[in-house]
Amino acid sequence: MSSRALRTPSSAARPVGTVTRGTTNPNRLRRMDRWIAAAHGAALRRAADPLAVDLGYGAAPWTAVELLLRLRTAAPHARVVGIEIDPARVAAARPYEREGLSFRHGGFEVPLPARPVLIRAANVLRQYDEGDVGAVWERLCARLAPDGLLVEGTCDEIGRRHVWVALGPEGPRTVTFAARLASLERPSDLAERLPKALIHRNVPGEPVHAFLRDFDRAWAAAAPYASYGARQRWIRAVRDLRADWPVVDRGTRWRQGEVTVRWEALAPRGA
Ligand SMILES: C[S@@+](CC[C@H](N)C(=O)[O-])C[C@H]1O[C@@H](n2cnc3c(N)ncnc32)[C@H](O)[C@@H]1O
Repeated sequence: MSSRALRTPSSAARPVGTVTRGTTNPNRLRRMDRWIAAAHGAALRRAADPLAVDLGYGAAPWTAVELLLRLRTAAPHARVVGIEIDPARVAAARPYEREGLSFRHGGFEVPLPARPVLIRAANVLRQYDEGDVGAVWERLCARLAPDGLLVEGTCDEIGRRHVWVALGPEGPRTVTFAARLASLERPSDLAERLPKALIHRNVPGEPVHAFLRDFDRAWAAAAPYASYGARQRWIRAVRDLRADWPVVDRGTRWRQGEVTVRWEALAPRGA
């Protein structure tokens, strides 16, 4: 898809972006939802208007429904607006509206009067060009509330492997890798789910390639812990990884099969 898709349309009513495949699945984004509630629940709780956006929710509204349920465990007054660029998908979602959940037609301009405390865009940028990512991030970050968060990433069809970038109004902050550990052969299996900003950079000489190589080495060295379960092996591997990479989270998240690293350490060369 060309970056023409991102130009501000001549008609003010036309959303920014392009309709892409609407593939989605119930429960697909559970790892991302859990992380958002843990990492950003306090900001949503503090907000006078705890508005969250599920941008590009797809052919069915499940991920928006589930985001609302998860956020409400952390911030009981949270509300979610699902935004889709395909008007037919908005019409299909409308019957699922309820207190705290609505759907509207729109794109990367995020056509809402209020600034969201959270924008989540999962499996949306994957179908755009790598060169579009910077402009989309900038546009979405500019729409955030002052302590807002943009979470943008990719996962497999049933949410076993997930990688996302978290960005504040100032730009990218962290990258999180999350996996169902029982089905993971090695950490670099996650490479196929890297977000658009990184997936083409998993080549020698790029930081994300070095990171996954080191993670695989730490995973191999942690093999003796496999007899205590994949979780113990992951925790051990992340501990080792921490010697060379700026891991920003702790054991409580590693136990979930996650690890979060500073963006600057993985950012593409020259970015
Ligand atoms: C693969 S689906 C992802 C669905 C869901 N987020 C998930 O992860 O299961 C991508 C959706 O993003 C929508 N989309 C693409 N560009 C968009 C944009 N600029 N604004 C809003 N929605 C967009 C597409 O129409 C499509 O329905």
